[in-house]
Amino acid sequence: MVLRVLVAVVAVVAVVALATGCTRDSIYGPPTQSACPDGGTTLTYDNFAKPFMTAYCVACHDSNKVGKDRQGAPSFHDFDTLFGIKAVHEHIDETTAAGPAAINDGMPEATPKPTVAERYQLGEWLACGLP
Ligand code: HEC
Repeated sequence: MVLRVLVAVVAVVAVVALATGCTRDSIYGPPTQSACPDGGTTLTYDNFAKPFMTAYCVACHDSNKVGKDRQGAPSFHDFDTLFGIKAVHEHIDETTAAGPAAINDGMPEATPKPTVAERYQLGEWLACGLP
């Protein structure tokens, strides 16, 4: 009975992993389940996300960078514009943000890294719809 449950759990995990195409377990965590506070957020692209991305992400994830200057950052993951952030905001939540369900710290892999408080702010800004 225990074994059967175990097999079922393993099967479900395998199916979910395949369905989401998730092969990079090392950098991806679960969705943070962040919620936008009642009354909204004071965080905006200009006062929060732009300086956050500039400080911690754009050294590699920059639409102006090609080849080895990207230090391995994948194509179409460029965070020097709001447009680029919006395109993959779920991936940003699952690698970098914090919320009730997870504190994701897969990105960046090198220093400088955001504080946990900044990761919670990122989760909130994403949950509020990237204002
Ligand atoms: C020092 C360079 C560097 C910095 C800085 C950096 N990244 Fe990355 N990023 C990478 C590399 C390299 C990969 C590919 C890692 C892998 O596939 O294992 C990656 C992958 C990712 C992915 C997954 C892309 C995919 O194809 O699934 C996301 C999302 C991401 N980074 C977000 C961020 C965010 C947000 C920041 C800033 C908080 C950041 N990264 C900072 C180098 C960097």
